[in-house]
Amino acid sequence: MIKIAILVSGSGSNLQALIDANLSGQIVGVISNKPEAYALKRAEKAGIATAIIEHKQYPNREAFDAVMQQQLLAWDVDLVILAGFMRILSAPFVQAWQGKMLNIHPSLLPHYKGMHTHQRVLHTGDVWHGCTVHYVTAELDAGQSLAQGVLQVNIQDDVSSLAKRVHQLEHLIYPQVVEWICNGALQHTHQGVLYRGQALQQPVQFCNF
Ligand code: GRF
Repeated sequence: MIKIAILVSGSGSNLQALIDANLSGQIVGVISNKPEAYALKRAEKAGIATAIIEHKQYPNREAFDAVMQQQLLAWDVDLVILAGFMRILSAPFVQAWQGKMLNIHPSLLPHYKGMHTHQRVLHTGDVWHGCTVHYVTAELDAGQSLAQGVLQVNIQDDVSSLAKRVHQLEHLIYPQVVEWICNGALQHTHQGVLYRGQALQQPVQFCNF
């Protein structure tokens, strides 16, 4: 059974969706860099081990990441899930988890990397928006995309309604992708990413107009 660790910094609604999904893998621990993160309460309520590793207590990213790495090794983790984890990770850490670490980003990557995605989509007047589950690589929001939740922007949408609708899509697609990894439907191989035995050419799309 695949052992999963989830890294959080905030509310943890994606963590909750992953807990509620009854994955065929096991969530063995949750790490937060913020002691006040509500995600920690969710983990405790679900009986999942937690670790608070405050980035402020370390002189640099590498030192902070090394402590996280120790914890992940202690939990014997196979897969790392970033769920609202608001720290940039150092190159050695990313390298150590290459093909074994996922993130979810609130845009249709490669569009709108970085912050304030809903605002930028509205400002540009895009018709399509959504979220992307992708592998984490050293370059921010640039690893291979595995799945996307797509929605149509309505004329009456504002930042908060878009944020809410995108969040709902996140809660649908993130557990699905993690489950595919747990049950072997999605595999990271030396030949590339395989989805149900075929090379994944483009992200699997979930549409919710
Ligand atoms: C989500 O919007 C996700 O796309 C981004 O961080 C947010 C986390 O939300 N990476 P939550 O803490 O899971 O509620």
